[in-house]
Amino acid sequence: MTIQISSKIFSQADLHFPKQLKSSLSTLLAHSTDCLVLAYSKADLDSFAGKSAKTKAAPAGLLAELDRLLGGSVSRAQAVGDLSQEQAGTCTLRAESTWSGHGVKAKRVLLVSLGDESATKARDLSSYAKIAKAALKQLSGGAIENALWFTPSFSLGNQTQSLAQEVRLTIQYAGDQAYRFGVRQPTMKFKVKDKADPFAHLTFAGNDACAKDLKTAVAQGLALVAGMDLAKDLGNLPPNICTPSYLGKSAQGLGKKTGLKVEVLGLKQIEALGMGSFLSVAKGADTPPQFIVMRHQGGKAGEAPIVLVGKGITFDTGGISLKPGEAMDEMKYDMCGAASVIGTMYAAALMKLNKNVIGVVPTCENMPSGRATRPGDIVKSMSGQTIEILNTDAEGRLILCDALTYVERFKPKAVIDVATLTGACIIALGHVHSGVFSDDEDLVNALSKAGKASLDTVWRLPLDAAYHDQLKSNFADVANIGGRPAGSVTAACFLSRFTEKYKWAHLDIAGTAWKSGAAKGSTGRPVPLLLNYLLEQV
Ligand code: BES
Ligand code: MN
Ligand code: ZN
Repeated sequence: MTIQISSKIFSQADLHFPKQLKSSLSTLLAHSTDCLVLAYSKADLDSFAGKSAKTKAAPAGLLAELDRLLGGSVSRAQAVGDLSQEQAGTCTLRAESTWSGHGVKAKRVLLVSLGDESATKARDLSSYAKIAKAALKQLSGGAIENALWFTPSFSLGNQTQSLAQEVRLTIQYAGDQAYRFGVRQPTMKFKVKDKADPFAHLTFAGNDACAKDLKTAVAQGLALVAGMDLAKDLGNLPPNICTPSYLGKSAQGLGKKTGLKVEVLGLKQIEALGMGSFLSVAKGADTPPQFIVMRHQGGKAGEAPIVLVGKGITFDTGGISLKPGEAMDEMKYDMCGAASVIGTMYAAALMKLNKNVIGVVPTCENMPSGRATRPGDIVKSMSGQTIEILNTDAEGRLILCDALTYVERFKPKAVIDVATLTGACIIALGHVHSGVFSDDEDLVNALSKAGKASLDTVWRLPLDAAYHDQLKSNFADVANIGGRPAGSVTAACFLSRFTEKYKWAHLDIAGTAWKSGAAKGSTGRPVPLLLNYLLEQV
């Protein structure tokens, strides 16, 4: 299931939150919904709880007004200790007979605590994430089918800037919660593990003050979820189905569905381009390699594009340098870079992004066979540089280097490659941040900022000349491995030799693209990061 998301703007005459609290709340409550979601601050709780008793003044603020409109429901929740002070605490009020007298049509009101945050300091996005996730969890898995999320009650003060960010993030998490593998491939009859969440429609309510931001953010959030769902599906699909040709056909399918211009090159064309390095990886497999190019022409005709390159190894056995058997099934996720590039291109097309973006995916299997490349083989890359292949399991860089040479023709504004490139990156950064490598400070800063804005974060690792020594070969221009020390860095250094002609950054997503264990599954990362980066470019 994909959750349906919409926005509803109540005009200023109906809703002047927070100025005219009472009329705003009664407008919202009169809307028929399974659940109205409202956030309250510590100040709301204080003025409702303790202080009114002492001063005898009628309590004020959101909770007090709500209590009056709901005939004492909030007081009763407070009396039994259900109203939390803690950030992200929740309390669901269910319709009582006293509600109908006030024209209340909402069946439930979900109260969410913002905790002790002052309106003056800017809220950090991770505390918002905690709050939004707690609320979404309450909406999920029960009888609630739709909810009305009162967006302005979640924003502190007048932070319209962060409103868009927060709404996008809420939609991103709603999408994560609603995601089920296999439902978009009905003909394949996969076993769908959890039944679809009954909670299937989330509406963001706003007023005139935030209408424009809200509508844009909802459209962007929807595109983001569609892109992430696609990236997750492609990642989770088994490697006997998600082959290089399957990726090619999926990309072509998106071309028909959206305005994307898609071109898929086959073996003969890849040979004609001289991609000897890419082909050396594809050689061992029976499935033919594909080279996918997807263009989104949202900007001016001559405008330099941003190019995304994704590693598309649909299964990585290691080749002749065969991997150990344990958890080898997870090497179906070795095309998650490709999946995130395809997902991001789809989202860019859906949100009609006003920039030129090109997605490029070299894709093949890395298999051992009588035709497979041997350790010690020397191959010639499209750039002309010769490569001594000392380990056939370091194959990602071998397919990416030719793609990185290919994209020179686009005279790109920037190139970002995305790859599940090294196990060493998991050792360095775990499953929290993706690794980012670049000599370009501006590009690193832009990617770090985009990561923070979507909570799909990156951490910079080095790329200095000093590490290049590890890639020396006695027999070719460069070796494809640099030994165990700083394995992620030498992999990035290898790629950097093919990126001299443009601004470039490399993202190593080995630790962040999927989860292992009981929660095994693709995360859809770094689609949020890439989309946020693209949105922020001028
Ligand atoms: N796809 C792997 C990297 C990987 C391994 C990602 C495990 C996530 C989990 C890549 O192709 C690879 O095998 N890299 C080798 C490089 C080594 C041979 C220099 C690695 O990391 O061991
Ligand atoms: Mn490998
Ligand atoms: Zn690999």
